[in-house]
Amino acid sequence: MAHNRKKKIGLIGGGQIGGNLALLAVQKQLGDVVLYDIPAAEGLVKGKALDINQLSAVDGYDCRVTGTTDWKDVAGADVIIITAGVPRKPGMSREDLLEVNLKIMKDVAANIKQHAPNAFVINVANPLDAMVFALQKIAELPKNMVVGMAGVLDTSRFKCFVAEALGCSIRDVEALVLGGHGDDMVPLVRHSTVGGVPLTELLPKEKLDAIIKRTREGGAELVGLYKTGSAYFGPASSAIAMAESFLFDRKRVLPSAAQLNGEYGINGYFFGVPVQIGAGGVEKIITVSLNDAEKAEMTKSFESVKKTVDSVKL
Ligand code: APR
Repeated sequence: MAHNRKKKIGLIGGGQIGGNLALLAVQKQLGDVVLYDIPAAEGLVKGKALDINQLSAVDGYDCRVTGTTDWKDVAGADVIIITAGVPRKPGMSREDLLEVNLKIMKDVAANIKQHAPNAFVINVANPLDAMVFALQKIAELPKNMVVGMAGVLDTSRFKCFVAEALGCSIRDVEALVLGGHGDDMVPLVRHSTVGGVPLTELLPKEKLDAIIKRTREGGAELVGLYKTGSAYFGPASSAIAMAESFLFDRKRVLPSAAQLNGEYGINGYFFGVPVQIGAGGVEKIITVSLNDAEKAEMTKSFESVKKTVDSVKL
């Protein structure tokens, strides 16, 4: 009889998002977790690992968390989720994080190349589209094995605001937010529905415009409330949905930052598009037909991404 070994999930960065990722991975019993951080944060990751392992007894989870500062422990991971990097403070844009987070990404990507070159890697660190670009280049990951998490979260924020505005179940809201993970991301209202009914028939334009604005500024709204950092529950859940789709070959279609090869007229850059994620990683990139106004918004969003990526010195 064949024995399926438990999966291994490597979490790089054991801060706010990293800790929540570890908890969710255990609660969803995705596999054993290795929570890695730099030596200065050894107590943090060892503490979170111990705390979660103790919680496991309550509900009987069989997955274990190991807190470590040694990359060797990450070797053999099936999935890696990167949250190593500094979060925003009030008044900062994601692009303001470029210099400091690029330095961190260079270290992380080189270690992935050395210790876990076969993992499916999901990046969460910001500025998202530029960080995942640097990651792929340095770690030399095949383009189907590396994605950025942004669209699932942005879409989830949009759905949340729609459900709130209509007073309806969030489960029936279908929506799509594409483009870069910045202030000019592209919520596609025309492709959004509630229980199959086009959203444009359910909410007036002013209300929809307000929801689009709030979605675009969704990250900043939380930075303004938290003051010391940025969102962590939403980003963690979103990255876990992507990891699950890979681990269980779910083939879900999730908006993700994937490396494009001519799709949407973009070549070589990572950009938020609908992606099918399964055991093969990025198995398919789906091209949505867009009208002229939507195309113009995608172009504007891509120009912002391109500007940041082109300033990246590797
Ligand atoms: N290798 C691994 N971990 C690192 C490294 C490194 N080279 N450098 C820093 N870290 C760790 C920090 O020690 C810290 O524990 O990354 C962790 C980041 O945690 P938080 O500061 O709590 O940040 P968090 O809210 O989790 O956000 C992380 O995700 O959404 C993005 O913009 C956000 O870029 C930020 C990242």
